[in-house]
Amino acid sequence: MRILALESSCDESAVAVYDDALGLLAHEIYSQVDLHRLYGGVVPELASRDHVQRLLPLVRSALAAADTTPSQLHGVAYTAGPGLIGALLTGAALGRSLAYAWNVPAVGVHHLEGHLLAPLLEPSPPPFPHLALLVSGGHTMLIDVAAAGHYVLLGETRDDAAGEAFDKSAKLLGLPYPGGPELAKLAMQGRASRFDFPRPMLDRAGLEFSFSGLKTAVSLAVKAQSTSGALSDDTRADIAAGVQEAIVETLVTKTLRALDDTGYEAIVVAGGVGANRLLRQRLDGAAARRGAKVFYPRIEFCTDNAAMIAVAGMARLKAGSRETDAIRARAQWPLMELAPLG
Ligand code: KG4
Ligand code: ZN
Repeated sequence: MRILALESSCDESAVAVYDDALGLLAHEIYSQVDLHRLYGGVVPELASRDHVQRLLPLVRSALAAADTTPSQLHGVAYTAGPGLIGALLTGAALGRSLAYAWNVPAVGVHHLEGHLLAPLLEPSPPPFPHLALLVSGGHTMLIDVAAAGHYVLLGETRDDAAGEAFDKSAKLLGLPYPGGPELAKLAMQGRASRFDFPRPMLDRAGLEFSFSGLKTAVSLAVKAQSTSGALSDDTRADIAAGVQEAIVETLVTKTLRALDDTGYEAIVVAGGVGANRLLRQRLDGAAARRGAKVFYPRIEFCTDNAAMIAVAGMARLKAGSRETDAIRARAQWPLMELAPLG
């Protein structure tokens, strides 16, 4: 069975062709980073308009790269939520229409299920059950994954997501959008010990996160250090290292707590912040000391892409999920509302 998949929930236009026997045949991605950089963040209307221009050419090039004609396709999957509603609708309209024209089923995929199942594309996929740490620009969640499609929320953030904490701190340091990877790069030259930023909720039992206090602390540190003009390069790097340290330590500590609670031996890290090197290093080390193993998507599939939408879409199509003829997308869509798979 072979399907086409589209992703357009935020600022990446992406298309993939996936075959359940042969694996990933092609994936194309166009990042709108340059378009939004001028504004310091994603401008939803510009994102939607750009998806409209990019998606169809990406479909053509992905099909060509996969040496696939529409008659060889058995379904079309597209991200139906959560995300920016205008951006989602561009992918939903195109995906639903292509499926209609090609007379194959369409399935709307939950973006976070895509992130959670992305490690299944790797040569050594994670076993089930496992614990998932989902850390993206909009979400920070610890999830008990008994099987694909069986998700139980163990804890989540009460305010900002981990990615948001990276992005907002980066902005305070004057780094360009998207801030997370830029802050991580700057942190490599800094000393993490100079600034002691808060580790929110670490002193409390449970698996909840809170990152909104971090940006206040960073803002105060930036102000305190800027009294004699602009921040020095060293100070900026030290603040970046301190922020990264605080976020990573918080994520690792809570993840280990959840690992102990569940008794599982495998952890999946999904979402854009999963690309962070320090997080990977710390979590690998800490998990290994407990006899557990951490599974990640390859770096390019940590951030938004259509390959992960294809994996989730294939699983949903095989389980019988079908869209009606209507073009539907949801800006808000709790992961726990998904019907179990199989
Ligand atoms: O999953 P994703 O691509 O989009 C959402 O669904 O939100 O995640 C994007 C988030 C952004 O906040 C970005 O700054 C962060 O992931 N991110 C990183 C790194 N790469 C991406 N944060 C820290 N270190 C990185 N290397
Ligand atoms: Zn995402």
